[in-house]
Amino acid sequence: MASDSPIGIHDLSFATTEFVLPHTALADHNGTQIGKYHVGIGQQSMSVPAADEDIVTLGAAAAAPIVARHGSDQIRTVVFATESSIDQAKAAGVYVHSLLGLPSAARVVELKQACYGATAALQFAIGLVHRDPTQRVLVIASDVSKYELDSPGEATQGAAAVAMLVGADPALVRIEDPSGLFTADVMDFWRPNYREAALVDGQESITAYLQAVEGTWKDYTERGGRKLDEFAAFCYHQPFTKMAYKAHTHLLNSCGHDTGKDEIARGIGQTTAYNAVVGNSYTASVYLALAALLDQADDLGGRPIGFLSYGSGSVAEFFAGTVVPGYREHLRTAEHREAIARRRPVDYAGYRELHERFFPGDGGDHPAPAQTTGPFRLAAVRGHKRIYETRPPGLSHSQFTTT
Ligand code: CAA
Repeated sequence: MASDSPIGIHDLSFATTEFVLPHTALADHNGTQIGKYHVGIGQQSMSVPAADEDIVTLGAAAAAPIVARHGSDQIRTVVFATESSIDQAKAAGVYVHSLLGLPSAARVVELKQACYGATAALQFAIGLVHRDPTQRVLVIASDVSKYELDSPGEATQGAAAVAMLVGADPALVRIEDPSGLFTADVMDFWRPNYREAALVDGQESITAYLQAVEGTWKDYTERGGRKLDEFAAFCYHQPFTKMAYKAHTHLLNSCGHDTGKDEIARGIGQTTAYNAVVGNSYTASVYLALAALLDQADDLGGRPIGFLSYGSGSVAEFFAGTVVPGYREHLRTAEHREAIARRRPVDYAGYRELHERFFPGDGGDHPAPAQTTGPFRLAAVRGHKRIYETRPPGLSHSQFTTT
């Protein structure tokens, strides 16, 4: 029977990488004034994956605490959203399904539309739960953002995964209708199949993003959405945190609202803390903004928040969610802060070596050095197959040391 209950995000958990590169190290290397990074783009550091981490290990690490808390009996669908896919055919979520021991009576699929993919996953999940409210859908957004070394995009790299359990009567956020939608065929950012690093036209991408903000808002209001001043806060896709400031200023401006510093800070000030130190996590970024907001804000119970999800190419969506009273009891604030604090600083040379690493495509046996102290690792690529490992319970962190 279709659901009349509210549907939305019941639990949310994120994971990020083993290593972190402070922007001061990048600035020392390329002679950029640090103000450009800290103020100009609003980034302090970027998460850097270890040689044995990828979108699967990050996604599994994000989702494991959700499965531990709620069990897996009700999960019949896993939707894995990414734009840094590891296989042209097999969904990365199938590896996660296996690593987490999810029931075989499940469907698993991968979704792609640049950074927008996780919002498509969330909306599809809501549709599935609406059809059968006894089911829950595990949505995983996981990405490693990689640009060419010494390119303007390099400072906006990062990596993280957000896992969300979507269900009826959610504990965190009720997702509402309508959505404002916008699609435009633009070449602002893309990654052809033969490339590992993305191609980008930086200024074009900023313009395309701002057009999408306007386009989604127009559709949202025409469909009877909330008024701008009803929202307690706005979670934007944050390729770099300054982009959220540009986007929110643009939205307020186009609606004839005050764009003073305080007004902008009120709308987005508490959404940028995690993205500023993690960097661009593509599909995960807008939900990392939500995590930062929920983890930091005074009680938002009953208050609507706006979401602007943008994926280059481009597809965007503006939608609203109402924070569920009592949500604070269900947050994972300490674990989120620990995921960021536990990262080990890597120097510029170490980062560059990791950036340049690749698995040869010759079908041989290529083990990955054991570097991560996280719960899952990519042990090797052997015979063109990715081999993953789970850390046995109780194994000490020191057994995975940096080579
Ligand atoms: N102190 C303070 N600020 C400084 C400064 C200093 N010393 N030096 C420069 N700045 C400021 C500049 O004034 C500028 O600010 P404004 O944009 O507000 O004018 C800012 O720092 C950046 O300077 P530049 O524009 O000169 O920087 P750049 O040419 O090196 O490129 C970039 C910046 C285009 C964002 C580049 O990093 C890039 O291409 N990034 C990847 C693409 C991207 O993230 N696009 C975002 C929209 S697309 C999207 O959202 C999808 C996605 O995830 C990719």
